[in-house]
Amino acid sequence: MENARQWLAAARSVAVLTGAGISAESESPTFRGPNGLWRNNKPEQLATPEAFARDPHMVWEWYDWRRSVHAGKEPNAGHHALAALERGKSEFLLITQNVDSLHERAGSRAVVHLHGSVWRVRCLECGREEANEQVPLVPLPPRCECGGMQRPAVVWFGEQLPQRELQAAVNAARQVEAFLVVGTSSLVYPAAALPRVALESGARVIEVNPEATDLTPHAHAYLKGFAGEILPALLSQ
Ligand code: OAD
Repeated sequence: MENARQWLAAARSVAVLTGAGISAESESPTFRGPNGLWRNNKPEQLATPEAFARDPHMVWEWYDWRRSVHAGKEPNAGHHALAALERGKSEFLLITQNVDSLHERAGSRAVVHLHGSVWRVRCLECGREEANEQVPLVPLPPRCECGGMQRPAVVWFGEQLPQRELQAAVNAARQVEAFLVVGTSSLVYPAAALPRVALESGARVIEVNPEATDLTPHAHAYLKGFAGEILPALLSQ
């Protein structure tokens, strides 16, 4: 912990990659844990363009439920510690795979959403994307001003990540002095490649997770534990 603390304190530029684990202490379900979303639901039936084309109503019901779950959650000590870290750094980027927007609600500003947001919707006809925070959604599926059906503005399996966001994340991984990886199983690419890019570019890579991942043997420091406990201690000055 002490080495990692010093690396982060000394670094002028820092990037952070987060996954569902950072929201676990806000009582949001992760994807692959014992009560994970992918334990009881099949990704190919809910999170693919084919599933949506087959049954948009069913897919929307699932996202409407997830929106209602996220709406009732508050950011935890881990989210707040990262927001405070950003305020102390001149160069900072928070790269998240999460769609819940708890980072922004904790005060993080420089946030890149690699997998989109459940709070945004996109029209299948005209392509217009807009914020939508209505819970529950009426009507379901929601409709655009142009009359077209809207979809959740999230990245589904088999879809490309938003290119601008991915490029910003890769650039940060190439440039920063310290790269912190929090609460991700490091199984889903291309997000899982970002810590490797940072390692190859000479950054100190620090991982926070109660369970070891494929990244663990390569990280300069592995801090085993919960984000809400480790991050405040790691990032306090
Ligand atoms: P996962 O559910 O795959 O992994 C969550 C990770 O968080 C695991 O490694 C846990 O050990 C760890 N974890 C659990 N509780 C924690 C805590 N309190 N503090 C820190 N870590 C904790 O979630 P992701 O890695 O985010 O993609 O999954 C990546 C992508 O797979 C998601 O964005 C989603 C999913 O399919 C799409 O929907 C495109």
